[in-house]
Amino acid sequence: MGLFSPPRQSLPFEMFDVQHTDREARRAKRMENIYHLGQDKIWDGRDVLAGLIERHGRPKLAARERQALSQIFSVIMWGELAAWKISAQLTDLIVPLGAKLAATSQAHDEARHFYVMHDYLEALGETPPALDRWSKHVLTMTLRTKSLAKKLLGMQLTIETIALTIFQRVRELDVEPVLTELLPFYERDEARHVGLGIQMLPELIAKMSYAERVELAVFHLELYGSAVLSLKSLEPALESIGVDPRSILAIGFRKQSDIDTMFREEFPSWPLDPPEKRVFAGLCELLFPTGGTSARVGKRERVHAAIDVMRRRRPGVLEVEASKRASRRADNLSRAAVDGA
Ligand SMILES: [Fe+2]
Ligand SMILES: [Fe+2]
Repeated sequence: MGLFSPPRQSLPFEMFDVQHTDREARRAKRMENIYHLGQDKIWDGRDVLAGLIERHGRPKLAARERQALSQIFSVIMWGELAAWKISAQLTDLIVPLGAKLAATSQAHDEARHFYVMHDYLEALGETPPALDRWSKHVLTMTLRTKSLAKKLLGMQLTIETIALTIFQRVRELDVEPVLTELLPFYERDEARHVGLGIQMLPELIAKMSYAERVELAVFHLELYGSAVLSLKSLEPALESIGVDPRSILAIGFRKQSDIDTMFREEFPSWPLDPPEKRVFAGLCELLFPTGGTSARVGKRERVHAAIDVMRRRRPGVLEVEASKRASRRADNLSRAAVDGA
């Protein structure tokens, strides 16, 4: 790990000494491209937001929806500040040039995401409420860890994925026109940020001892568990703007499976169904039962279902909702094909 953790007050003059295999060289190039692509696709947050408000007018919503949107997007806003701080930490912590460039470009993007979200919430006219304890826990765990692997897993692969998932669902439902057109700018940037984690983490894990891998899995589980508890605490706000939290789980599950597939391309022995993933699936089933809202499913029944899901004896809410969503999409596509004919 020496290559990735230089003494903080010195310059890493050894940064070009590494011998690259073909695969490593390809990864380094991809990470470098994250920086250059970031520069090509850069957008001016002030112009974009002002242009959208000019086109659609200031965001206008009924009080209940406005409060709900402000609660959800204040989590995003503080998440952007955490992302800004964490990517700045990574910029300093990482030695290899390509990855260092990628983290630097991310820090610049996150600064823009933070101030634009702040300005949007101000235009919405609500004072953002305090952060719920679980969202705060996800962000501080990732901010505080000294491990590069944990930081990448927390930031690039978990927080980014959660944000992308919420952006996608709120955009699909067209809750508020300024936000609907603003979110694709965020989504393009965040998708690039996930790339740094995908390129870097497998190599770090490959070099870890068994004990270090177990520690990382425990960190991952705590992070995911806290994220799903924070989704539970946002449930009333999400429902007020017409978002079923299960649809968030479905999109998140799909995105996570895509990340796992990309990981397996880089790192063929990446586990298919590790224990932390099973425990997480059980927790999701417990909090968001497949059969309906928690009120309609009894406690005992829920616990049994969660255990069965953990033992992979039945599909849980993650798989069920993801496949429902996939078949709805297929329906839409075939309808589009018929309409187009
Ligand atoms: Fe961001
Ligand atoms: Fe990001």
